[in-house]
Amino acid sequence: MGNVILIGFMGSGKTTVGFRLSYRLRKPVIDTDKEIEREEQRPITEIFASDGEAYFRDRETMCLQKLLRTARDQIISVGGGLPLREENRKLLRKLGQVFYLQASAETIYERVKHDTSRPLLQGDDPQTRIRTMLAERDGCYKDAADFIVNVDDKSFEQIMCEIERALG
Ligand code: S3P
Repeated sequence: MGNVILIGFMGSGKTTVGFRLSYRLRKPVIDTDKEIEREEQRPITEIFASDGEAYFRDRETMCLQKLLRTARDQIISVGGGLPLREENRKLLRKLGQVFYLQASAETIYERVKHDTSRPLLQGDDPQTRIRTMLAERDGCYKDAADFIVNVDDKSFEQIMCEIERALG
């Protein structure tokens, strides 16, 4: 169905790469976090605070199911935790070509250290948290991915070129 899907840890650049790819390939872009916020009419921080992470994860699965019915030839960036569910990984693979934007814990920390919009990184020691979560998640991302693009020390231009080359 011609969709290009971007997965990876928080701060790996999925949203920015998604917008740039959309412009370059002239395809619409959609972001699962934004979709969920739009449907719920409230920010993710509030969804987590009022209804908890499990509720948000169910919303992610529902969002993927809807995209499978509706998305054709689109760029789709997904929340960093979405590929953790096996069911979601299957849905992702059905939905299109999956690119894992792989970043080191150091790259991620530098990008998210001033950010307050990600509830899972708001503890006392975000560096350790990032390292632990990344180690837990990397296997899931790889399992879902058709292509792995390492983004450490690369410009967005370089990342775009790699993705475009892979798309052929
Ligand atoms: C999450 C990543 C966030 C958002 C939520 C949970 C995660 O998306 O879905 O805060 O579990 O990694 P981004 O990866 O776009 O920041």
